[in-house]
Amino acid sequence: MIQTEDMEFAPRVISPEAAAEDSEAELGLRPQTLNEYIGQDKVKENLAVYIEAAKRRNEPLDHVLLYGPPGLGKTTLSGIIAHELGVNLRVTTGPAIEKTGDLVSLLTSLSDNDVLFIDEIHRLSRAVEEILYPALEDRVIDIIIGKGPSARSIRMDLRPFTLIGATTRAGQLSAPLRDRFGVIQRLELYSKDQLADIVKRSALILGIPCDTDGAAEIAGRARGTPRIANRLLKRVRDFADVMGNGRITRDIASIALSRLEIDQLGLDSLDRRMLTMIIKGYGGGPVGLETLASAIGEESVTLEDVCEPFLMQLGFLGRTPRGRVATKLAYEHLGIAAPDDQSGSSDGQLTF
Ligand code: ADE
Repeated sequence: MIQTEDMEFAPRVISPEAAAEDSEAELGLRPQTLNEYIGQDKVKENLAVYIEAAKRRNEPLDHVLLYGPPGLGKTTLSGIIAHELGVNLRVTTGPAIEKTGDLVSLLTSLSDNDVLFIDEIHRLSRAVEEILYPALEDRVIDIIIGKGPSARSIRMDLRPFTLIGATTRAGQLSAPLRDRFGVIQRLELYSKDQLADIVKRSALILGIPCDTDGAAEIAGRARGTPRIANRLLKRVRDFADVMGNGRITRDIASIALSRLEIDQLGLDSLDRRMLTMIIKGYGGGPVGLETLASAIGEESVTLEDVCEPFLMQLGFLGRTPRGRVATKLAYEHLGIAAPDDQSGSSDGQLTF
């Protein structure tokens, strides 16, 4: 999992997508209650009220849509919601529900007030989505029995339930589906302090001795994402065990992260390749996302979902109607002299 420049197609150590190595440990690291969950304060405060109200009325919680960049804890939060409600959680993903029958059997197997979590809900097929509308609105499903002229539709009642949908792309959700969520919450990238608290908590659970400075060093390079912070913690531990005495200090963390090619601000080689291509290949931009993606041999969704939210938060990247532009801050960070007039300097043609 360690990426180097010449392993362009290897998974990035700072990819926020879940990897097999994350799942097992993350389960142990996953907080169970809202109190244990660090960050996303506004979301937590609101959810605490809605959960308490639903419990007092002995009703299901209203359907919840969680959206935001990957790795911020949407699945974790849905586990907490189910735990706080005292109900079962069923977890699935949009692409895994291939046929309408898959969704029907999921919905009919729920007990009263259970939570059904659908990750990547923007990837549900049209036919499956249509089963979901009456299920969400009126707690019924319409099942077609038979084929051709003798086909009949039977309406079936469902037990009360809560759907939690998660997506990195709220904009891709159809309006009728979006409108059926009573609670819509956006998760934000985490601050360095919050990530440092998450690293310290995880180190404690995993029994890794970790200095406050060491945790801060990891947090500062985890691009606002707990999943990345936890993954970096495990990689840095390897360096601490082999190169040090097992304790994560600032120095060990700094050496390890540099070896992983993650710079002081948390940019990895893909972020740098993206910015460098905009600057050196397209005169600073604007350049269209698809053009940029093929120029560096990456998928445009990776650039859009993974690199861009972070680079935009740092103020390194701008999105204009004509394409992506690198800002003066990006030039400075990469140590490249910025042209005097950066605006609209490129007509989208390669300049090197
Ligand atoms: N592990 C991953 N995300 C977390 C969070 N938000 N709070 C506590 N531990 C976490």
